[in-house]
Amino acid sequence: MTVPETLFESSLSSLRLKARGKVRDIYEAGDDLMLIVTTDRLSAFDVILPDPIPGKGRVLTRVSRFWFERLKDRVPNHLSGTPLEAVLPDPAEREQVEGRAMVVKRLRPLPVEAVVRGYLIGSGWKDYQRSGAVCGIGLPSGLRLAERLPDALFTPSTKAEMGSHDENIGFDQVVGLIGRELAERMREVALGLYREAAAYALDRGIIIADTKFEFGVDEAGVLHWIDEALTPDSSRFWPADGYRPGISPPSFDKQFVRDYLETLEWDKKPPAPHLPPDILARTAEKYREAERRLTGE
Ligand SMILES: Nc1ncnc2c1ncn2[C@@H]1O[C@H](COP(=O)(O)OP(=O)(O)O)[C@@H](O)[C@H]1O
Ligand SMILES: [Mg+2]
Repeated sequence: MTVPETLFESSLSSLRLKARGKVRDIYEAGDDLMLIVTTDRLSAFDVILPDPIPGKGRVLTRVSRFWFERLKDRVPNHLSGTPLEAVLPDPAEREQVEGRAMVVKRLRPLPVEAVVRGYLIGSGWKDYQRSGAVCGIGLPSGLRLAERLPDALFTPSTKAEMGSHDENIGFDQVVGLIGRELAERMREVALGLYREAAAYALDRGIIIADTKFEFGVDEAGVLHWIDEALTPDSSRFWPADGYRPGISPPSFDKQFVRDYLETLEWDKKPPAPHLPPDILARTAEKYREAERRLTGE
């Protein structure tokens, strides 16, 4: 038995599969725990691509663990501290998911994607050009593409079902969905996590342009950070050297794949096209480089 380098889809027979997300397979592990397996699936434009990126799931798992540990004093997170052996005693099953599994507390996910933006890019840039604001938050005029914002912005969105796209919502709508107290706590925590992480990353040559956090609550209603933490999948990472407002920066995330897909005549509906081997290899290398720079590993 050897640990597989690439995993497109897990199949553990000793646990009950609860859900497959675009990237993660989620198993029940007792009454209050879950096993999250991060596969090598890659989604672009909200469609799962047919080819896995070798080792990507392990990079995402290590990067998430790194941030959960580093930022644990700001907000509790979903890591349970339960070792993998305790929920997956069969060694062969363990090998299948080695390095890409997390035993987490089962929490109630809040129906909001907590997006924080530090730079003007993507839909934020489009919004600004049209309205002079991002998600209704007014900004000074004359800002350029990819420019650093005077202050990081909390720009929440809905959590769309598989196959549809997230939609931006105002803070009042967040209050309507989860109540004022949780909404304010979420905003404060998300901005605090982003600011600390962005400052740390910048020292290591990475700009975290924006990111998406997910939160859940336990039975007592306490806010917890769940899902993944500041990975190249949930964030835009740019190399700090060569950064200059006015041009769209190259990035460490799947922008690379998106750019390639834009050169094809694909309508962005499933099924997605295969990627050429060099795009797969270069994307895998981008993920590893982001990890190396952030964690020094
Ligand atoms: N601790 C947790 N408790 C409950 N649900 C969680 C927890 N951590 C993550 N999740 C949910 O598990 C799913 C992760 O799988 P993923 O592949 O990222 O899904 P998606 O396609 O929705 O992005 C998400 O729906 C996320 O909200
Ligand atoms: Mg996700």
